[in-house]
Amino acid sequence: MTRKIITACLILLAFNANAQQSLPLYLDDAKPVEQRIEDALSRMTTEEKIAMIHAQSKFSSPGVKRLGIPENWMTDGPHGIRSEVRWDEWEQAGWTNDSCIAFPALTALSSTWNRDLATLYGKSLGEEARYRNKNVLLGPGINMYRSPLNGRNFEYMGEDPFLAGEMVVPYIKAVQLNGVAACVKHFALNNQETNRHGVNVIVDDRALYEIYLPAFKAAVQKGGAWAIMGAYNKYKGQQACHNEYLLQDILRKEWGFDGVVVADWGGVHNTKEAIFNGLDMEFGTWTDGLTWGKSNAYDNYYLAVPYLKMIESGEVGTKELDEKVRNILRLTFRTTMNRSRPFGSFATEEHALAGRKIAEEGIVLLKNKNALLPIDAKKHKRIAVIGENAIKMMTVGGGSSSLKALYEVSPLDGIKKRAGKDFEVVYARGYVGDASGDYNGVVSGQNLKDSRSAAELKAEALKVAKDADIVIFIGGLNKSDLQDSEGNDRKGLELPYGQDELISAIAKANTNIIFLNISGNAVAMPWEKQVPAIVQGWFLGTEAGNAIASVLFGDANPSGKLTFTFPIALKDNAAHANNAFPGGDEVIYTESIFTGYRWHEKQNIKPLFPFGHGLSYTTFKYSDIKADKASIGQNETVTVSVKVKNTGKRSGAEVVQLYVADLKSSLPRPVKELKGFDKVYLKAGEEKTVTITIDKEDLSYFDDKKHDWVAEAGDFELLVGASSQDIKGKVKITLR
Ligand code: BGC
Repeated sequence: MTRKIITACLILLAFNANAQQSLPLYLDDAKPVEQRIEDALSRMTTEEKIAMIHAQSKFSSPGVKRLGIPENWMTDGPHGIRSEVRWDEWEQAGWTNDSCIAFPALTALSSTWNRDLATLYGKSLGEEARYRNKNVLLGPGINMYRSPLNGRNFEYMGEDPFLAGEMVVPYIKAVQLNGVAACVKHFALNNQETNRHGVNVIVDDRALYEIYLPAFKAAVQKGGAWAIMGAYNKYKGQQACHNEYLLQDILRKEWGFDGVVVADWGGVHNTKEAIFNGLDMEFGTWTDGLTWGKSNAYDNYYLAVPYLKMIESGEVGTKELDEKVRNILRLTFRTTMNRSRPFGSFATEEHALAGRKIAEEGIVLLKNKNALLPIDAKKHKRIAVIGENAIKMMTVGGGSSSLKALYEVSPLDGIKKRAGKDFEVVYARGYVGDASGDYNGVVSGQNLKDSRSAAELKAEALKVAKDADIVIFIGGLNKSDLQDSEGNDRKGLELPYGQDELISAIAKANTNIIFLNISGNAVAMPWEKQVPAIVQGWFLGTEAGNAIASVLFGDANPSGKLTFTFPIALKDNAAHANNAFPGGDEVIYTESIFTGYRWHEKQNIKPLFPFGHGLSYTTFKYSDIKADKASIGQNETVTVSVKVKNTGKRSGAEVVQLYVADLKSSLPRPVKELKGFDKVYLKAGEEKTVTITIDKEDLSYFDDKKHDWVAEAGDFELLVGASSQDIKGKVKITLR
């Protein structure tokens, strides 16, 4: 008996030793990743490699089952994990456990100007993706805000490349701590939806490098993004998804990107270019379900059988194929084959509260005449809430970022809950905008049909407004086609559904009116002088209504700042002033580097609300602005310090902004540019010193002749302000 046991143990030991010895190198996570990649690659057939570089379903691509290399599963998107769709259709798979937490859209996140909240956002979203077993998150979106008409601006981070770069880095890092790749999108120059697959963007190198690329560069080099998504549009006449200049010259060679380049869905149009110009994975071709379809089309992808045939005929070699597979294997080792990645969590209360915190800090108080806000229990007993956006669910719709949320608190419900018994809340819809609520089979479940005439709706709204102590008009845009929605751009800057006329009439009936704008874009406000308080509310996700109520009632003190300019009229925006949006087959960025506030300042055009603007229920005093050096050498830094004091009666937070002005330069430069910021939290009466350090990179411009960044010796002003138009003081420094 004993001998038998000993013999069995010896056999087991021998077997184990054998097993250890024969553990293939690519499975040994003690070995360097690059060695594991080469080992795995050497074991794969050409067919297996070809299979890996294109989709097998709407959102997945195969691994190599034989070798134990897992599939890749992608998910939209930037502000929540998309519900499960069917294998080859956009329609719902019908799961009952895939309702996510909808986080605020990225316009709201960037408006917090709080890097820690970008970390919290990325962490929470990454956990949701991981739990749902997705290893690539199709986000964040960081295309620059060029025109207020772009239907997808709400998914992005505003008009300033520095700000977007600073906010995207913590988001990416936190997502990827979950073993989930952030797939930064859409690279590059995807600044409109009109003719998005066909338009050829013509932009000069200065604007490309100074405005449109910096956030992507930060995402790659500082954020360490593991994936990037090509854009739909063309650049230099070539599709961005297989664009030699963008993907090879800039992304790979200049920035040293070692991750995977994923095509946007249906963004590939040419096999040879896709082979040679740096694309790694093809998704969405022919099966995009939007325009045309073909069953079992995956073999027909540009990077499927057509590529294989070219290899077999000797027309192309396999060097590029190996390179693509290397990039995909690197993704695999970083995500699905990382044995120590966490498990994730989904639709938790913790995530909902994270979303609420971000929403509260992202809401921007644009105007607050005579301190109408916050709502005062002593003066505002009877509250009239008017407007469709007080009740309309905003998580469904808008395109690929549409979500099936676990729940969504509407602004009206949030206000009612917060108001409790201390107030009387009455609601009138005022207008009917879009009563539908369906996106690819996810339905909001709301019945918003209303058969009353516009006159009846208006009469009711006016009556309710007259009888109230205060009116909260909750309107703006929505996620329907031609508004804040993928696939098309807005047609104008004005509010839809006759809201302008209605707001103006209500303001006459009750001067205590607040306008809460739910949108991801600037809108015109021709009635602005009539309305004492204006709040920018964004698309805020699951906890929208609670966050809005916190701010309106003063439980949260607003501290968000605008990340893009609100022009008074469309022609005040650079792209529109030059009639350079949306173009036809091509769009020429004639404004060059002068986008957003850079344009307004250059042309001296007063905005409705400037970039960086946002008020608080308290007040701040800036003093003692100084620099630690009057002059710096090319390799030195300079630190600006400023004392900020909360001079009001309640705690609050202020975003201190640092702008650089080049006093004399060989090339034209903006009046000033954002190059630093910090958010400081102060109790009533408290004072803190804020310091911001910059270096020569922050003083540089891109010289298109030299194709390099140049920090030109000379004098610069460093301006410290509460917005781009509210400069509190400045210091002069010299770069030697
Ligand atoms: C969008 C991407 C999205 C993809 C997958 C495309 O139409 O442009 O942003 O990630 O679809 O849904």
